[in-house]
Amino acid sequence: MRVMHVASEVAPYSKSGGLADVLGALPDALSRLGVEVTVVTPRYRSIDPTRFGFARRLEPLRISLAGHQSEVGIYEGFGSAGPKVRIFFVDHPESFDRDGLYGPPVSAGGGDFSDNARRFAILGKAALAIALDPKLNARPDVIHGHDWQAGPAMLYALDPSLPWAEPGMPNRGAPKTVFTLHNLAYQGIFNSQIISELDLPGNLFHPDGYEYWGNVSLLKAGLALAERLTTVSPRYAREIQTSEYGHGLDGLLRARSSRLHGILNGVDYRVWNPEIDSLLPAQYSADALAGKRACKAALQAEFGLPLRPDTPLCGSISRLVEQKGFDLVISALSKILADEDVQYVVLGTGDPALERALAEMQTVHPKKVSIRVKYDEGLAHRIEAGSDLFVMPSRFEPCGLNQIYSLRYGTPPIVRAVGGLDDTIVDFDAHSETGTGFKFSEYTPAALEETWRRALRTYRTVRQFTALQKRAMAQDFSWAASAKKYLDLYRS
Ligand code: ADP
Ligand code: GLC
Repeated sequence: MRVMHVASEVAPYSKSGGLADVLGALPDALSRLGVEVTVVTPRYRSIDPTRFGFARRLEPLRISLAGHQSEVGIYEGFGSAGPKVRIFFVDHPESFDRDGLYGPPVSAGGGDFSDNARRFAILGKAALAIALDPKLNARPDVIHGHDWQAGPAMLYALDPSLPWAEPGMPNRGAPKTVFTLHNLAYQGIFNSQIISELDLPGNLFHPDGYEYWGNVSLLKAGLALAERLTTVSPRYAREIQTSEYGHGLDGLLRARSSRLHGILNGVDYRVWNPEIDSLLPAQYSADALAGKRACKAALQAEFGLPLRPDTPLCGSISRLVEQKGFDLVISALSKILADEDVQYVVLGTGDPALERALAEMQTVHPKKVSIRVKYDEGLAHRIEAGSDLFVMPSRFEPCGLNQIYSLRYGTPPIVRAVGGLDDTIVDFDAHSETGTGFKFSEYTPAALEETWRRALRTYRTVRQFTALQKRAMAQDFSWAASAKKYLDLYRS
């Protein structure tokens, strides 16, 4: 079985969120099951291919867009886990040699690049060219696209005139298509003039295809036309078929529900494991938690907070966007800070209004709240390790990875019972002493406040809290089981 993944982020090369973590780990887990995996992704300005031992192929790919021929360079190398996963960086400087993955940094105005449809169409054309080039020997049985940035690849793969037949195997058909939805909120909607500019198949521009209220939706292209659809947790797979969580596409998703599968994301425990995490000031395990106390003190120091070993330190790491529930955090925390001994640290970037609101809390409570507005991989690990509780009260959450990481770091998460948060966290019960975190349902500040206070009370009951941490640390969300489900899907 040969599978080609097409994605706009792959850890450790490029990352803005959990998509990168998935592409950094799932291909390797699949290769352990015997799948031959290739990954096609852009070479952004921030990627230095030689640092990862990638080599530039002498011959560029030739692609054509609306009758215009151009050349695209490719770098080829092996994934960070070893020589099993082949990775191709698509080097098209006009599209990808700039700061930012999807738009300029907030400091330079933010927003989206105006030519995003074209940039990811080039990724799609390059993926198909790689798949078809006999010299590259990368012809897949399945093309697996992720999120709207892979929508063009999904559409190009349907072109009946592509020369898939091989000498000696004239009946070998075109690859099958699988599309994974990581977040329904990002739909890749563009003016319909891109149909001719990007050679999209005009015959599929209708409501059962990729048309969305007169525009093109590159997400809908994948959702409507791929042979199999997946999303990243079972509960989110059900939620997106309702009008409350369907972002206008619930009807389509209901109609295709027999093709839609919720497969939970896994964790790469080679990267997210406090026993071996070299980004931490001290390592630790469930049986030896002293290192966690050292991480807490170091984190308080790093965030300029008083070094208080017994004050519960809560943390969040997040894209600061509406999805993540920071409006709830801000109102609940302002009440909690009034009468609780607590500290809260945040690492995140995004919506300037949320950045300002958090900065204001820090100004009012400089000994209790501290924020860092930046992207910092090492600091993300140190927050997972140094915090006592992780806060993630999302409005919706396709899967969510940070709450699963925090389990392994002995940092019970406070989450809303939605999407993957609900599928991965079991609510703590003081009587039966079961559960791995703290959950609430209603999307209200009061519900978060009550649950946050319950978590703080549990923290002060040291014996109960230590048992909770150990239960959390014993949970296993490694990729093997989920990778097996993808393999079954490919086989089907
Ligand atoms: P999402 O993909 O919706 O952003 P996930 O929980 O699935 O949410 O994954 C988020 C990933 O991005 C995690 O690996 C998290 O550590 C990382 N991350 C988010 N914001 C930052 C940041 N400011 N600095 C470093 N890592 C971040
Ligand atoms: C998206 C979702 C997140 C998920 C990640 C990886 O960014 O918001 O919930 O964990 O993709 O699948």
